[in-house]
Amino acid sequence: MSENSNRVDVGIVGAGPAGLMTALLLKRRGISAAVVERRSHAEIHRTQRAGILEAPTVDMLVDADVDSRVLTAGHEHEGTVLSFDGVQHRIDFQKLVGRSVWLYPQNEVFHDLATAWIREGGQIHWSVTDVEVHGVDSHEPRITFFDADGKPGQIDAELIVGADGSRSMCRRLIPEDVRTDYFTSYPFAWFGILCEAPPTAPELIYANSEVGFALISQRNASVQRMYFQCDPDTDPEDWSEQAIFDHIQHVLGGPEAVALKRGPIIEKTVLPFRSYVCDPMTYGRLALAGDAAHTVPPTGAKGLNLAFSDVRALVPRVEEFINGVKEASGTMSPVPVSTEPLQRYSRTALDRVWKAQNFSYWVTNLLHRQPDEGEFAQRRRRGEFDAITGSVHGQAYFADSYTGWSTS
Ligand code: PHB
Repeated sequence: MSENSNRVDVGIVGAGPAGLMTALLLKRRGISAAVVERRSHAEIHRTQRAGILEAPTVDMLVDADVDSRVLTAGHEHEGTVLSFDGVQHRIDFQKLVGRSVWLYPQNEVFHDLATAWIREGGQIHWSVTDVEVHGVDSHEPRITFFDADGKPGQIDAELIVGADGSRSMCRRLIPEDVRTDYFTSYPFAWFGILCEAPPTAPELIYANSEVGFALISQRNASVQRMYFQCDPDTDPEDWSEQAIFDHIQHVLGGPEAVALKRGPIIEKTVLPFRSYVCDPMTYGRLALAGDAAHTVPPTGAKGLNLAFSDVRALVPRVEEFINGVKEASGTMSPVPVSTEPLQRYSRTALDRVWKAQNFSYWVTNLLHRQPDEGEFAQRRRRGEFDAITGSVHGQAYFADSYTGWSTS
């Protein structure tokens, strides 16, 4: 028997926002959970991810009572700017659909959740190695691992939640004859920078020009986050500060259109693009949540929001399943516990996942240039752009999708 052996209701692989939010919401319902994570707390906190939260995501953070700083340190954005060939169009989310989004970086969401989980005495093992999940098709699933000191550990649970990110190990536990992997790739990537300068504009600017896409986002009053479309094989070191800013400025349509605020670049990375869905998101006593089950390109800012909508759908179904386990264990002769609530979770979650996949794919193609396309494609794109920005219905379609749809 290993030193770290213990029994909980739910074992969770991955301490990103999906895993930690699941752990916290289960605890609120009297269901015990333990979390294992391969990376260290500091490494996850350092990693830059997208920064836009839909209103239901903000509500979850507030309602979870985790002392999130989303409403104090985050910024409400009532609209966003779409720019084509230097001409800007504001999409007024509030006027169109009565909702806003919040700019609050994902690594801060992680920090809020991790702090709350630790403060509440939640079990978590950081920097573990050799994580393995066993017996998801039995009634005794378990996680084994080696902890940060190299000691073997084990978590025995009724159910395993795989929230272990886009390179998920848990996903591979769904047998190939049960699982369908849907994916598409893109012939471009994003070059992302962090720079020390105040925001260029009060709201985000998503821009397209004949040289492709750029996005001006923010982190706080003195740091900006920006991206531009690049070849997936780009070496960030090949781009000087001056070349980066000149290129982004060009996509924005020159300084007369928007005067880019420049400052020292403190981070440069190339982010690959991919769309992926795993169907079903559950198998036996395993349920996947967040990037482990699906990846979207970052253009629509849907990644974290989808992870939270998974958790919203998952937690009541886990409660139903665990109640079933507890009832069955009180009977004289154990009866098999139905995993049907988990299958219902998968169906509900996938409906939203595909809506988000569609939006992310559509907005990516609306705003990026394919490497080998001709002039027809760019002029057609301009026509599509005008159809969206020039009509209240087109604008409302964008606003409704970007802010997370009126129905969950
Ligand atoms: C970001 O701030 O990192 C960000 C914002 C919006 C996106 C993607 C990334 O669509």
